[in-house]
Amino acid sequence: MIFTVAIDGPAAAGKGTISKAVAQDYGLAHLDTGLLYRAVGWRVLQGEAPVAAATALEAGDLSHDDRLRTPEVAQAASEVAVLPEVREKLLDFQRNFARRDGGAVLDGRDIGTVICPDADVKLFVTASAEARAERRFLELEAKGIGVSRAQVLADVQARDARDSSRDAAPMVAAEDAVTIDTTNMSIEAALDRVREIIGLKLQA
Ligand code: CDP
Repeated sequence: MIFTVAIDGPAAAGKGTISKAVAQDYGLAHLDTGLLYRAVGWRVLQGEAPVAAATALEAGDLSHDDRLRTPEVAQAASEVAVLPEVREKLLDFQRNFARRDGGAVLDGRDIGTVICPDADVKLFVTASAEARAERRFLELEAKGIGVSRAQVLADVQARDARDSSRDAAPMVAAEDAVTIDTTNMSIEAALDRVREIIGLKLQA
């Protein structure tokens, strides 16, 4: 069975937590596609050119969560993500992952629109910029990354603006996506809603 769940949405909306729970619940493989762009961004910060960095990307590059989940790498990721040639280099890997036997959940910005337009379930998970910035601030603080609330909010807003205004695969909810606004929702409530949507689809 190939069952594909596409989860898109802006920075720090809860896509990662929801994707991991969905993968676990339904026995699906999970790909955090943001990590691909972060890994390219990291290489660019080390001095490589963006397209060369995307071409040289290896599986091992993704297994450095600590160095990839910094605010600097997030900004670098959204800067390389504007480039169509970079996106093109990452396309096959994502599509092949989505087609794997047993099914998969992918989260990112363009999964329901470009990577998996035929996904069985499409979700667009969002929240106010302030709520998202607060969650990201707490995550970074827990990791010992010293940054102010105001700076995190500014970073999130800059990335949202760049991600949604670019020409190549902009961040937008697919027409057939269900939008879940988690601004005033606990993660448990958001997960209940997601399980309800997936359950209905599995029954159909
Ligand atoms: O974790 P967070 O939501 O903050 O970001 P991420 O998912 O790790 O993505 C980092 C950046 O990669 C985003 O700001 C986008 O610019 C880019 N990205 C993208 O363009 N397309 C995707 N499918 C995933 C990420």
